[in-house]
Amino acid sequence: MKIAVIGGGSTYTPELVDGFARLGSMVDELVLIDPAAERLEIVGAFAARIFHHHGHPGKITWTSDLDAGVTDVDAAVIQLRVGGQSARINDETFPLECGCVGQETTGAGGLGKALRTVPVVLDVADRIRRRAKPGAWIVDFTNPVGIVTRALLDAGHKAIGLCNVAIGFQRRFASYLGVDPSAVVLDHVGLNHLTWERAAYVDGVDRLPELLSRHLSEISDTVDVPSEIVTMLGSVPSYYLSYFYNHDRHVRESIGAQTRGQRVAEIEATLLEMYRDVTLTEKPALLGERGGAFYSEAAVGLIASLYGHDDTSVHSVNVRNNGTLPFLPAEAVIEVSARAGLEGPATLPVAPVTPDLAGLITHVWGYEEYALDAALRGGRDRVYRALLAHPLIGQHEYADALADKLIASGRDHLAWA
Ligand code: G6P
Ligand code: MN
Repeated sequence: MKIAVIGGGSTYTPELVDGFARLGSMVDELVLIDPAAERLEIVGAFAARIFHHHGHPGKITWTSDLDAGVTDVDAAVIQLRVGGQSARINDETFPLECGCVGQETTGAGGLGKALRTVPVVLDVADRIRRRAKPGAWIVDFTNPVGIVTRALLDAGHKAIGLCNVAIGFQRRFASYLGVDPSAVVLDHVGLNHLTWERAAYVDGVDRLPELLSRHLSEISDTVDVPSEIVTMLGSVPSYYLSYFYNHDRHVRESIGAQTRGQRVAEIEATLLEMYRDVTLTEKPALLGERGGAFYSEAAVGLIASLYGHDDTSVHSVNVRNNGTLPFLPAEAVIEVSARAGLEGPATLPVAPVTPDLAGLITHVWGYEEYALDAALRGGRDRVYRALLAHPLIGQHEYADALADKLIASGRDHLAWA
């Protein structure tokens, strides 16, 4: 099969390519697509060396011509970043001026990212639909994944959203338990970047209580959530929940500090230099300092299932709720565990969610509804309403000031502003 990677010039791409090289025997061609031609050339040539090094018979091609690149593809992975790291750094800093967390997908920064990203992804998806093979899946890694996936599905695309948070827990729990990762089935529930692991089944037995008794401090340190909270919930929140449970601490620590985007820009510059080296044939260890661990394995695994090669594995995916969480509408997009086959994803049943989780999920779902409306239709009033609806903002004074800051600083990427 032929798979397009939109945003294929990303320094992350060697991670994805490594996964396809090791596990993607179904792939005949991976076409990397990116407007940044110079970077694409470096990443593309390196990606080809990775395939060759692993003895993968498929070919790697690359182009800056989106329409040509997606022609006749069987599937497309979208992993683009509108505005690059500089827009991200802006998202990470402007909310701090109001005492609100600055993060690329959570809070006001996440809204900024949604506003500039949704229209671009919808345009890309339309172009994929016109030229790809009929029935081609769009696998979306583009953040904010929940909102972007919702936009794609509402526009009638055959899309599914993916994130590496769950597979990261699966790998970690499996190593603690000394079992194969595929043996661990997570009860993973929530919205993208607002999830909890409520159980970790191995052969039908929930081993999470045992993991929490043996590895509590390590687990709570990893997600930066106090062990009291993990014990009380009996669940492991993702590290994005730390921005909720430790909001003011994050704000205090962020003021005057280097942002993640600034650090990533440094890592990216070094990575690109390394990728230029024609003797480099494997992803460098430095890539492990990016947050994308295992995203390749998540992508390869899901695509294998969607194209009929594996109907037993469980993936954590962003899909329509359709009654899975009874307190949200059917059309909401949630992140849960699912099997997948030629008919698409089939969500595993989800046990009732406790009121504290349900309350926060519902609150953020409400924000996401307004965020998508603002992304599709623009306008300061919609931006203000989405900000006011966010549980980490929620007050007039902040929503009012943040609306102005978001629009002023994000103007270059907002057609309506
Ligand atoms: C995790 C998240 C991704 C996010 C990434 C950021 O992988 O699941 O959605 O894009 O972290 O990593 P970075 O290295 O860019 O900070
Ligand atoms: Mn993610």
